[in-house]
Amino acid sequence: SGGGSEKGDDDSSSFTSTLPTREGWWAAPLFRQHGCWVTARLARSVELVQAEFKPRPDDVLLATFPKSGTTWLKALAFALINRSRHPIITSDDHPLLSSNPHDLVPFLELPDRSLRPVAELEALPSPRLLCTHLPPALLPPGMLMTSSRAVYLCREPKDVFVSYWHHVRTLSQESLVDYDKAFELFCEGVSVCGPVWEHYLEYWKLSKRNPSSSRVLFLKYEEMMAHPARHVRKLAEFLGVPFTEEEESGGVVEEVVRLCSFQNLKDLPVNTHGVSGQIGAAVANPIKNSLWFRSGKVGDWENHLTQEMAHRLDCIVEEKLKGSGLTF
Ligand code: A3P
Repeated sequence: SGGGSEKGDDDSSSFTSTLPTREGWWAAPLFRQHGCWVTARLARSVELVQAEFKPRPDDVLLATFPKSGTTWLKALAFALINRSRHPIITSDDHPLLSSNPHDLVPFLELPDRSLRPVAELEALPSPRLLCTHLPPALLPPGMLMTSSRAVYLCREPKDVFVSYWHHVRTLSQESLVDYDKAFELFCEGVSVCGPVWEHYLEYWKLSKRNPSSSRVLFLKYEEMMAHPARHVRKLAEFLGVPFTEEEESGGVVEEVVRLCSFQNLKDLPVNTHGVSGQIGAAVANPIKNSLWFRSGKVGDWENHLTQEMAHRLDCIVEEKLKGSGLTF
């Protein structure tokens, strides 16, 4: 995810050659497609998905900007939706104990879709639980139709930057720019799926547009970390699988929170030693599941940004979000 598994990116199509371009964080240049920065491979994946993917009215879409808590949201939504088949409390064989969340909830788009054809998504039984980093403008036509549901999770942008930096650095991308340059680019809105504020705003507007039927549930990482049980209940309701009284009194809410918590998932053998196949990494160079679990804290930016850097990004984000009602 986040385009972070790409090495070299020389397969730009005639399609991307018509788009505005800029140097990216590593050897892959970025192309601006409907206001969103994508690599050539990601652009190709978007093209494929738009042409081939057929949305269903009962699809549930999880949408995030890269490094905003996607792995957590996948785990929570999967656990909630599948709890009749995979009970939370009684089971010591819950799929989340043996599979990384990315192997349980597929992405619509991938850094390299050629490795995993869109047909794999067509083969999934309804209702499908799917995930995307794409902004609404790049989703396949009809994806956010009136009857389908989407959950959007966003995160404080300074923490997103720090998390993304560690992500690409861990993957030791070819010709990765230095830290200061990466920060500069992020402040200009230039990162895979960026600008981050545009991404947030587009989903924010969708979530506000029709509050009565609320087809887009807009969540914040920081609020979920502060009140996980409250948000798990809200998520369950939105997904159409509210907790029963019996579940409430049986402590199932707390058990979902615990099962999907950062520490619990991080320490599982599958996530300390396993590799993920679903994310679209080259078979020869699979992504280690541990990549998805770094520090899992709110405000870790304090350890990585100077006060000036923090102030600069805060001002940009505040300015960009002004008047929207969305704040951090
Ligand atoms: P940090 O790098 O700040 O630790 P994504 O899943 O969108 O790639 O986001 C990854 C971020 O979410 C990382 O942040 C990661 O540690 C954190 N994360 C992963 N699993 C989590 C969980 N179960 N609960 C809370 N945060 C989690």
